[in-house]
Amino acid sequence: MKYRHHIFICINERKNSERKSCGEACGMELVSEFKKQIKEAGLNTVIRAQRAGCLDACDYGPSAVIYPEGIFYGGLTTADVTEIVQQHLIKGKPVERLIIRFDKTSAS
Ligand code: FES
Repeated sequence: MKYRHHIFICINERKNSERKSCGEACGMELVSEFKKQIKEAGLNTVIRAQRAGCLDACDYGPSAVIYPEGIFYGGLTTADVTEIVQQHLIKGKPVERLIIRFDKTSAS
């Protein structure tokens, strides 16, 4: 595998809909901030952040998922990026307070 971590950040925009969408919140700002901080940390050859479509976590958004762990983060703001980069991506400790706890009883 080329990358140690791969981060997919939802930028889906759902215009003219009552449903929330990450792209209308701060999806692209999150992509830019992740890319910037990963580059500044000199990790852009081993960690890749990129935009993604809907991650099916809209109600918890703005959301992102980090592989290979498969950990979903939600309610993100650009202020949270530093903590995810420093704690999760560099130290290997997922940021518990931002992890989405999916309701296992719901359909999606
Ligand atoms: S719109 Fe972002 S997870 Fe669905």
